[in-house]
Amino acid sequence: MPAYVIVGMQWGDEGKGKIVDYLTKYAEIVVRHQGGNNAGHTVVVDGKQSILHLIPSGILHEGIVCIVGNGTVLDPAVVIDELDSLNAAGYATAGRLFFSDCAHVIMPYHKALDKAQERFRGKNRIGTTGRGIGPCYADKADRMGIRMGDLVNEAVFKEKLGAILEYKNGVLEKVLGETPLQFDEVFDEYRGYAGQLRPYVADAVKLVHDAVAADRRIIFEGAQGAMLDLDHGTYPYVTSSTTVSGGVCAGAGVGPTNVDGVIGIVKAYTTRVGEGPFPTELTDQVGEQLRREGNEFGATTGRPRRCGWFDAIQLRRAARLNGMTAIVMTKPDVLSIVDPIRICTAYNINGSVTHDFPTSLEALENAVPVYEDMPGWNEDISACRTWDDLPEKAQRYFERIEELLGVPVCTISVGPGREQTIERIDPFSISACGTMRGMTPEPA
Ligand code: IMP
Repeated sequence: MPAYVIVGMQWGDEGKGKIVDYLTKYAEIVVRHQGGNNAGHTVVVDGKQSILHLIPSGILHEGIVCIVGNGTVLDPAVVIDELDSLNAAGYATAGRLFFSDCAHVIMPYHKALDKAQERFRGKNRIGTTGRGIGPCYADKADRMGIRMGDLVNEAVFKEKLGAILEYKNGVLEKVLGETPLQFDEVFDEYRGYAGQLRPYVADAVKLVHDAVAADRRIIFEGAQGAMLDLDHGTYPYVTSSTTVSGGVCAGAGVGPTNVDGVIGIVKAYTTRVGEGPFPTELTDQVGEQLRREGNEFGATTGRPRRCGWFDAIQLRRAARLNGMTAIVMTKPDVLSIVDPIRICTAYNINGSVTHDFPTSLEALENAVPVYEDMPGWNEDISACRTWDDLPEKAQRYFERIEELLGVPVCTISVGPGREQTIERIDPFSISACGTMRGMTPEPA
């Protein structure tokens, strides 16, 4: 410590919620820096399940300060719902939860546009969560966004909404054939939200800077995963924000020198929701078994997740994109039901074998995985609490992944509960400086 990033290394849903919750015991402050309520974290504490979409799961720890930074997009109705359910469950939020005044607000026309655009794309649809994420980020880049600071200033909000809604209604009605939105209805609804959220809106960047200056222990919590990154993922089948660790700098307002290390959350197999290429996808019985055993259904939309084998080519790319210094492995317990366990170590693309993740979508769609088989351990590992408790075959699987990625497996999660966690190496003991340069991944 003091400042580490925790990010997903695949297509999201790696189990970041549980890990951030688990590692928060070492932190004082948790900062979310991108994304919106397209994310969904399921956290189980003392057998009680909480699903959070926006508010960092750090809020479930007494005394932890949670900051939702500039780079996020916020749907006020969802935020208020989460606040209400947290307060009802006895978690205090006042004075320790802050939303950036520069975060952008998801408006009803963003949600309407998200759905209409997906319909318009037809067979090329992205499979978005329909939460208005893409259109909200598009407005931000187009300098047509409404920020939290605007929302809580009634006069500013009224003026901005009036001007923007006229334009948006034109697009909805004339271009997409949708029903226009009524100014009064939107204004009254959002004025109500503003009243409830005003005490939580703050200059998040200053809060982060003060924490950095005071050497406080900070976790930057990423949403989604590396392959959903707007610049580096499988575009256009991506989300609209920077999901790789570099997004922390822009989204939270710190420099790269303020980040000490990057903890990558890696699922022991691969899943993906929505459309887009997925080389190791299993459309057979084994994929079905993984989905059932791993309960692979979206926390946000309930959609069944596509399941497949561990892809070392994709993960090596993700490790480099993020400067990953430590691996936290999640859900290997699900693999207890399969034997052999396969790892993709190369792609065969139109007859040539490559160890590089292709940037072309067409190449990725044609990639046939080359697998290495590892023997399955065929036993329940959910009660293991130390490295030595693990069957040798499971240890070998983790060691092989370390060899392929050149990054140590520090922590292993063997179930949803906080206690179902194996601490092998302290992920906060590895600093970014030199690690990625020093460890050379073994060519597959
Ligand atoms: P959007 O973020 O709603 O625009 O959706 C774009 C793509 O990202 C779709 O394929 C979604 O399924 C995917 N996506 C967005 N958020 C998450 C997440 O938290 N986990 C997994 N997939 C996500």
